[in-house]
Amino acid sequence: TKGGYEHFMLKEIHEQPGALRNTIHGRLNALDGTVELDDFPEGTFSEIEEVQFVGMGTSYHAAMYASNMLSARGVPSYAFQAGEYGLVRPPVKSNTLVVAVTQSGETADTLDAIRRAQSAGARTVAITNTVGSSVTRECDETLLIRAGPEIGVAATKTFCSQVTALSMIGERLVEDVTGGQSNSARDLVESMSRLPGHVQEVLDTSIASAVAKEYKDADSYFFIGRGVAHPVALEGALKFKEISYEHAEGFAASELKHGPLALVTPNTPVFAVFTGFDDEATLSNMKEVQARGAPVIAVTSKTDGEIAEFADHVLSIPETHPDMAGIPASVQLQLVAYHAADLLDRPIDKPRNLAKSVTVQ
Ligand code: M6R
Repeated sequence: TKGGYEHFMLKEIHEQPGALRNTIHGRLNALDGTVELDDFPEGTFSEIEEVQFVGMGTSYHAAMYASNMLSARGVPSYAFQAGEYGLVRPPVKSNTLVVAVTQSGETADTLDAIRRAQSAGARTVAITNTVGSSVTRECDETLLIRAGPEIGVAATKTFCSQVTALSMIGERLVEDVTGGQSNSARDLVESMSRLPGHVQEVLDTSIASAVAKEYKDADSYFFIGRGVAHPVALEGALKFKEISYEHAEGFAASELKHGPLALVTPNTPVFAVFTGFDDEATLSNMKEVQARGAPVIAVTSKTDGEIAEFADHVLSIPETHPDMAGIPASVQLQLVAYHAADLLDRPIDKPRNLAKSVTVQ
């Protein structure tokens, strides 16, 4: 049942603190700044030299998030849309790890990518929500995200749990591949342990419904971010278009000047996501769109600096490790999408033309 909520999506958005608690339960040692994953003990990835993440839709965004995080911490990592993997045919060696990210565990494109990777000799790991799903049978190993059932077609709690599970296995990879903990491991693990509380804070204080209302007649909605905020921006746009049927696009903030800026008008609100990574550069992108008259909604933890001063609205997130900040930021954007779709009276849990699980290529 919807537990008193009007839609499953809203219920699932609100379930996120609990889902995240399950995802991390018994898997973090905040004192030592280490992760403790039963099936992935220390040294499990010491042979690995490169990681390729594959997924579709929201799961692809989680994959991008992970590859972004890992590359920056010294593990060669790439994310592919699983549906393109067979065409791109990235070189696979015996020490390549291919990680399938899929909520359902049944996405045809993702299963196809995994089969290709395996026949090329890669080791494979599934990151999934679904016990006993096809991906768990086909991959060598599995890490369950433990987010609980998700009924709404729009993935919400599973995205945040995927990113968290990927961060945990990512920490194991960083240690095993680079031969030591990264400097900020303790901070990162500590921030992971705080995620449930941070997301709860967003749910308790968000002004997303007022923002959705103010801009409900806009022509298009743009989402920008850099670093891990780039996949968060893409995910914000995907959620928005999927359930509101309004045009929404996400871009790397750095990409704006190379084309998308031509679309920016006073009628295209821009959501700028700040996660503490090169915020100065995103601030100047924010000023560029403002100069074209676009309203800017900043998603940031910096509520009393220049970002907040220039933004038309701030969707605030708690101060945390930059790699984890994308999670509460995503929750803000889920809420904006939800309220926009609700104002437009869309069938939020079952958007037209879409299925929860896409089992054909
Ligand atoms: O079950 P999966 O995670 O493999 O599904 C992948 C996509 O079909 C899915 O994330 C889709 O993009 C969502 N409906 C987005 O909200």
